[in-house]
Amino acid sequence: MADPQLVLAERVSDAIVAAFGAGFRDADPLVRPSSFADFQANVALPLARRLGRPSREVAAAVAERLSVADMSAPPEVSGPGFINFTLRDDWIAGQATSLRSDDRLGVAGTADPLTVIVDYSSPNIAKEMHVGHLRTTIVGDAIVRVLEFIGHRVIRDNHVGDWGTQFGMLIEHLQDAGESSAEADLLRTDPNTFYADARRKFDTDPGFAERSRARIVLLQGGDPDTMAIWRELMDLSKAYLRRMYDLLRVTLTDDDIRGESFYNEMLPDVVHELVAKGLAVDSDGALCVFPDGFTGRDGSPLPLIIRKRDGGYNYATTDLATIRYRVDKLSCDRAIYVVGSDQTLHFQMVFAVARAAGWIPPGASFEHVPIGMVQGPDGGRLRTREGDTPALSGLLDAAVRRARAILEEQGASERFDETELAAIAEAVGIGAVKYADLSTAHNSSYIFDLDRMISFRGNTGPYLQYAAVRIRSIFRKYGQNVGGITSPIAVTAPAERALALRLLGFGAAVSAVAETCEPHGLSGYLFDVASLFTTFFEECPVLKAPSEELRESRLALCALTLGVLTRGLELLGVPVPEQM
Ligand code: ARG
Repeated sequence: MADPQLVLAERVSDAIVAAFGAGFRDADPLVRPSSFADFQANVALPLARRLGRPSREVAAAVAERLSVADMSAPPEVSGPGFINFTLRDDWIAGQATSLRSDDRLGVAGTADPLTVIVDYSSPNIAKEMHVGHLRTTIVGDAIVRVLEFIGHRVIRDNHVGDWGTQFGMLIEHLQDAGESSAEADLLRTDPNTFYADARRKFDTDPGFAERSRARIVLLQGGDPDTMAIWRELMDLSKAYLRRMYDLLRVTLTDDDIRGESFYNEMLPDVVHELVAKGLAVDSDGALCVFPDGFTGRDGSPLPLIIRKRDGGYNYATTDLATIRYRVDKLSCDRAIYVVGSDQTLHFQMVFAVARAAGWIPPGASFEHVPIGMVQGPDGGRLRTREGDTPALSGLLDAAVRRARAILEEQGASERFDETELAAIAEAVGIGAVKYADLSTAHNSSYIFDLDRMISFRGNTGPYLQYAAVRIRSIFRKYGQNVGGITSPIAVTAPAERALALRLLGFGAAVSAVAETCEPHGLSGYLFDVASLFTTFFEECPVLKAPSEELRESRLALCALTLGVLTRGLELLGVPVPEQM
């Protein structure tokens, strides 16, 4: 274990026990990065309250019993009782050297693998994936990648909207157009237009609207011909999703789709059980559950409608069935729902009802990871000039074109042939969009601004990609591959020290994503590493280092940096081109 924060936490914990007894094993040592030293332990303050003694005295008692001579200068007590640690250069160098021979780069595998379901992407079929689904897709995939790397059993679950009343008109429209028509093909290329065409017909042609309504009844009754057209619609839509996921380098496949329709047959039983348990009650002809603790503005209890007056089931009913399936059939220990923040109340209520019904066992964790909005330049929802939701494919195409223009400005067309250039532009454009999303806190909104996303400066995908590519080019110039460098890493200059020390924190940065579902913490960490590398590269000559020994050591540090950057970007799902 190389992460200094964790190592120090253990040592401080031991010192606390030595000073005050085993009863204090549970005290969090509160080791944090420090602006006065490398790290500081803040534990003396809460401990002083617990012991009823002055905090400086408590800090001194802990510091006295600390055994850290191998890794730190003698700890210093400052202020009201902070214990400051300045790590030894040789310790940092030694830890960085051993990290190089660790395939996992300090990321601990879990001792307790859980079955984790990640419900993500989950667009509504036969509508263009809108930019909101871009975020649930990208953030969800990063969470999946990290959990898998840590060793959990991850089940990807794409809870697509593939059922409901709008399918009457969609099926009817597909039936009219014919399966191999240009209109049907829109489902694969431009589903928004297909949906809009069907909608327009529904609104203007009473005969069509009539047929659509009759179609819903047939669909709900499982009529074989209707089901066949529905399946055709699904297949075309899956082709669309495959294309998007490929382009986005998202790990979802057809097999991960378990849409709303999948739970259809389980809905009557959900309602039946809720009634039997006395949780569901009639309210104006609809069946509702009023979970404890949810009230409207006027203080009246909020209902979760599980069966409408017309006998139809709701989105909430499906989600309740989904929970039961995930617990009973998939044995999930943890379920992570990466869904828009506008559904926060929905999930709070659904989880509360499921708990009240005893469907979520006490040890299982059900979490909503709320995703903020993608905004247009005016701060409102991102829209086209016509006011529509912009097609995701159009935005991604624009990103790739933009990346290409910037690369060309930098003379890339002289260095690469057409195929290479196209591949690089795609990695940079898509990487930029993904990184912009992953570097923003998932629940805040951000403005979709290609200029900012595709800049080579600042906390952007291209900046990080470029840092990795630049290290690769050092090795190309040197004529050695990264694996060929086996020398130990030395710490001889402040920029080397700062970079090596930061690299030791990779494991903690990755583990934190698994716990908090916040990929932006890892993005921020990688940006730090890339910035520290830039400073190192400016201040410390590598190939022109004053001695051969130092050159080899700096190459080893470059190799470790490259390992952390590429592994980190891979866990985020951001592609890194070989060259750019
Ligand atoms: N299809 C829904 C939407 O587009 C998201 C579904 C999220 N998952 C869930 N289990 N409700 O808003």
